[in-house]
Amino acid sequence: MWRYILLLPFSIFANLSALYLSWYGDPTTTMTIQWHTPATEYGDSIWIETLDQNWEEIEGEHAVLDSTLIHKVHLDFLDPGTEYRFRIGSDPKIYRFKTAPASLDEGLRFIIGGDVYANTKLFRRMSQTVLENDPHFVVLGGDIAYAITIYPFRTTAIRKWLSFLRDWKDYMIASDGTIIPFLIVPGNHDITPDNYDLFFTLFAFPEKQLYRTIDFGSYLTLFLLDTGHFQPIEGRQTLWLEKALSARSETPYRFAIYHEAAYPSYYPYHGLIPKKIRANWVPLFEKYRLHAAFENHNHAFKRTHPMKAGQIDPTGIVYLGDGGWGAPPRSTNNLWYLANRQKKNSILLVSLTSEQADIQALDLLNQPLDQVTLSPYN
Ligand SMILES: [Fe+2]
Repeated sequence: MWRYILLLPFSIFANLSALYLSWYGDPTTTMTIQWHTPATEYGDSIWIETLDQNWEEIEGEHAVLDSTLIHKVHLDFLDPGTEYRFRIGSDPKIYRFKTAPASLDEGLRFIIGGDVYANTKLFRRMSQTVLENDPHFVVLGGDIAYAITIYPFRTTAIRKWLSFLRDWKDYMIASDGTIIPFLIVPGNHDITPDNYDLFFTLFAFPEKQLYRTIDFGSYLTLFLLDTGHFQPIEGRQTLWLEKALSARSETPYRFAIYHEAAYPSYYPYHGLIPKKIRANWVPLFEKYRLHAAFENHNHAFKRTHPMKAGQIDPTGIVYLGDGGWGAPPRSTNNLWYLANRQKKNSILLVSLTSEQADIQALDLLNQPLDQVTLSPYN
């Protein structure tokens, strides 16, 4: 037993400074594990417990970022709805994760929150609320580490990302070693068309493109979009979006998640990006009957009335947000399209069953702020 301990008698991964799990493929059968070590600790392998309870070594790879190594292992042989245990190198600590279920028979619960690490205290308190709700995964709706600021020095950006990822390891891994995977959606403080190498070094996107769909079996599709931070809203992304929506017209649940808002609660309704989203994407959301869109960037809580063709319409789409994980909340504007607006930190907890989608807004102290129920499309 413990063959790897005999081969590697020293615990070479004592200095794990980050550990995060994400999906770039099918969440029911894959997982991408990334972790950081000092440059002297170069082992790239993990040990994973297989379903017949043997431990199998999986070799990964790493990228170098100054004095830090960014290690990565991609797993693509997993079973749906299954808890896996793994260890990193010779470190005896056991971590766990769970793949997404193959169907909604036992339900699926996930959390969406943006504007994440603007204030460390708020981030940590909201992270506790996230953990208390035990989601299968979270979606980070942009402005994650606030790495790109008005002072865009590379060293500062690296420090911010590494600090966020260190806090993610310290505050978002449960005491039993359970790790909640995140899905990344970019914001204006994460990436720009001129400043993208660092982002793609830290996160394992298979190609330099951020907009994508994540399909959970045949029951849920998330459309994760780029509100112009790396690639434009209009043109290629919009053409892709129409094809992606059209191909999933039979999927029971369809949600879009992106950073800047079509229906902002704080920023101007007539701002350039809100106008572009409303001109390019919103008609497609309506044509292909999206369930709801999740927006961020505004640092408040909001829920719009159901919207269709630029008007309040009971058959329309609800836009929820508005980027409240860890940024100081702002005063919202009294706008005709907002059904609920609050100067509050908030996250959105989505609970899916085959019968309904229950979306609950929770504040910093895990108290309910708002709730909406949607039915699946059959
Ligand atoms: Fe933003």
